[in-house]
Amino acid sequence: MTEIALTVQQTARPTGFPTADHFRFAESPVPVPESGTALVENLLWSVDPYHREMMDGDFALNAPLEGRALGRVVASRTPELPEGEIVFHRRGWRTHAVVGPAEVRRLPHHPGVPLSAYLSVLGGTGLTAYIALTRVARLREGEDVFVSGAAGGVGTATGRFARLLGAGRVIGSTGTEEKVKYLTGQAGFDTAFDYRAGPVAGLLGEAAPTGIDVFVDNVGGDHLGAAIGALRERGRAVRVGTISQYNTPAAPPVLFDHAAVVEKSLRIEGFLVKHYRDVQDELYDFAVPHLRSGALTADETVVDGFERIVAAFLMMLRGGNTGKTLVRAA
Ligand SMILES: NC(=O)c1ccc[n+]([C@@H]2O[C@H](COP(=O)([O-])OP(=O)(O)OC[C@H]3O[C@@H](n4cnc5c(N)ncnc54)[C@H](OP(=O)(O)O)[C@@H]3O)[C@@H](O)[C@H]2O)c1
Repeated sequence: MTEIALTVQQTARPTGFPTADHFRFAESPVPVPESGTALVENLLWSVDPYHREMMDGDFALNAPLEGRALGRVVASRTPELPEGEIVFHRRGWRTHAVVGPAEVRRLPHHPGVPLSAYLSVLGGTGLTAYIALTRVARLREGEDVFVSGAAGGVGTATGRFARLLGAGRVIGSTGTEEKVKYLTGQAGFDTAFDYRAGPVAGLLGEAAPTGIDVFVDNVGGDHLGAAIGALRERGRAVRVGTISQYNTPAAPPVLFDHAAVVEKSLRIEGFLVKHYRDVQDELYDFAVPHLRSGALTADETVVDGFERIVAAFLMMLRGGNTGKTLVRAA
């Protein structure tokens, strides 16, 4: 165990894209657990778009930041958290955390499943994709699905789950030609386009000339207007996230055809994954056998070294990732 603990702290509120100057790494002695708690040395961290939203006000300045992490119990003063156990907790961006049993989840033991999958396709990222398809869209076999932000963590999981759930055509949009190739070559999408190549409505029209049944939207903005146009009767637009606006404080208002929503009997519904934690075991039941058989892959961009966590976060915001962005202890 190292002698010094590091925490990442936000030092200023950004306008537009944040930079490394909005953060600092603070050193302190490794904390000592009190009775009823345990010391966790973190192994893997998740960096997420919602952190950008929290930087506008929810994160206190000059205080450790929250986030999802997996770590090993290295010293314990509670029988509920034995030393050596791997736990999930939300006291993220730090090398060490003192936690109580109520604020951690012990990971299930699924032989053959890599640890990182519990923060990607089996974690909140995969759960978001699973809820979008099964609870909000209520996807039926044979239905055509369009996913925006398709090459990211939620996007790749949505495409792969849609395929496993019997979707018809699976269409994705992403920000580079290289990621377009990844989607169709490796992630199981039937077709994909680079949303920077022209107006999204035209690109979607070419990719899905006969329309779509379900839109899973990680991006917002132009994508939503385009998808409303492409949705068939009784189509569903699932609002997952709005990353096109997180770094654009004066984003233009989103335009879509309001009459089409009525005339095609569409449903537009958003959700927060935190309201569906009770579906976690169902996700394991669904996804773990597919992971073991090789029918499902966890798409991940893994950055090595806690000291690179800020760089990994900034890289993800600009689309440098494919799949879920994770940081691994060196
Ligand atoms: N509702 C919930 O409970 C919930 C839970 C988890 C995540 N989310 C949301 O789901 C979305 C995806 O999250 P994630 O963790 O999977 O992140 P991610 O997709 O792995 O990473 C973010 C991606 O956003 C894309 N992006 C950045 N700026 C963009 C822009 N202006 N227009 C279009 N795309 C842009 C980039 O890919 P490109 O190269 O393709 O641009 C980047 O790779 C986010 O909106 C997030 O807030 C919601």
